[in-house]
Amino acid sequence: MGNISAVTYARANRHRFLHELKEFLRIPSVSALPEHQNDMSAAAEFVRSSLLRTGMENVSVIRTDGHPLVYADWLNAPGRPTCLCYGHYDVQPVDPIEEWRTAPFEPAEHEGNLYARGASDDKGQLYSQLKALESLFHVHGGKLPINVRILVEGEEEIGGKHVAQFICKNANTLTADVALVTDTKMLAPDVPTLCVGLRGIAYVEIEAHGPAVDLHSGIYGGNIQNPLIAMAQIICRLKDEKGKITVPGFYDRVAPISVEEKASWRRIAADIERSLQDRVGTALCGEDGYTPLERAWGRPTLDVHGIIGGFGGDGPKTVIPANALAKLSMRIVPDMRPAEVITQVRNFIHEIQPSGIRVNLREIQSAPAVVVDVHDKYVEIAADVLRQVFGNRTVFVRSGGSIPIVSDFQTYLGIPTLLMGFGLPDDNTHAPNEKFGIRNFFKGIEAVIRLMERLKPVA
Ligand code: BES
Ligand code: MN
Ligand code: MN
Repeated sequence: MGNISAVTYARANRHRFLHELKEFLRIPSVSALPEHQNDMSAAAEFVRSSLLRTGMENVSVIRTDGHPLVYADWLNAPGRPTCLCYGHYDVQPVDPIEEWRTAPFEPAEHEGNLYARGASDDKGQLYSQLKALESLFHVHGGKLPINVRILVEGEEEIGGKHVAQFICKNANTLTADVALVTDTKMLAPDVPTLCVGLRGIAYVEIEAHGPAVDLHSGIYGGNIQNPLIAMAQIICRLKDEKGKITVPGFYDRVAPISVEEKASWRRIAADIERSLQDRVGTALCGEDGYTPLERAWGRPTLDVHGIIGGFGGDGPKTVIPANALAKLSMRIVPDMRPAEVITQVRNFIHEIQPSGIRVNLREIQSAPAVVVDVHDKYVEIAADVLRQVFGNRTVFVRSGGSIPIVSDFQTYLGIPTLLMGFGLPDDNTHAPNEKFGIRNFFKGIEAVIRLMERLKPVA
């Protein structure tokens, strides 16, 4: 091929790129479920072999005690910046399976979208990066315009610590100037969006232990504490009717939302609130004194994900269960510290546990919140590249979701992260009928190509 541009190459190969993405999506790499162990290896292997074909060097699958990491680099552009690319090959479970219109691991095209678990989060978005690299290598005679490292993990959806351990252990050799994460969403179709803030998370399990064994509720009822009731009472005391979390000290470190950010969010609030409203199907409600957008992007939350215990089968069973379990998480914002939040909750539930009940709390996962400086030079370049690709001005947003690795990039490597995502609000991530706009997949490839070409002269 002569002197074609990387974007031209990517456009000419769209059909094959999409075909390959479907192969990737057929691998049911559900990180949470042990029965998918082999699929996790298969997905890591898929990423490895596809990186090998692009021209990346030092391509390796790194075994961990959990799911494998995939690493590769190409560092032959001295004097040019180094970009650390990141994505995850693991996906969320598919249940409730009966809600899917097509099989979750049999990618289906419909009205310009590709339907499959992981299409948007994050296989499709990760694959945009891989195909951008391939296109760049191809038209630059086996070279890239900048230095690139890529790190792909399989434990993002389960808050696994192995990728953080890898970064911490190799902090001295994993040098880079900026990280690139394509795992966030755009505000709306054709509205290029850079995410400049993510909430963190502190996820815990609380156990309430009552009697030594399950007991007959007729014989013992009235004389003992029921752990399920105790759990419900404890949970009710964590939040008041105004939506304030009542754990002592919880808000002490919460950074106020700046006046500028409040103003800039207000300008985009109407559309987002409408789309939130459309999707939830009930009235929006939350912490008094804050708008829905402020609550989602700049305020912490406390939610219960499940309460387990006792009897839930058909018909009656008159039992007072010995134990109850609740799964609970707090989304946290700058400058809250996950370990401190967990300690505050633990102390509080011990303080309020009713007599006859012993509670204990176990941390499941945690990650601090992140904010990216909108005036960072890499952020400014990325915003301009996106404007060029989508033909509209780039909007800066935050997200209520969490991507734990981003704070590790900041802490261990001291680099900013470009959260440049191509998902859309209605992609059904983590839900039945997940999809990715095929157009967004291709636009994503072009954006990553143009970003890397634009970073070439940035020392
Ligand atoms: N890609 C998402 C996070 C996300 C979604 C960021 C939308 C911005 C916009 C990620 O895969 C995710 O789901 N993260 C989990 C992390 C948790 C399991 C530690 C989350 O936010 O629940
Ligand atoms: Mn993701
Ligand atoms: Mn996810």
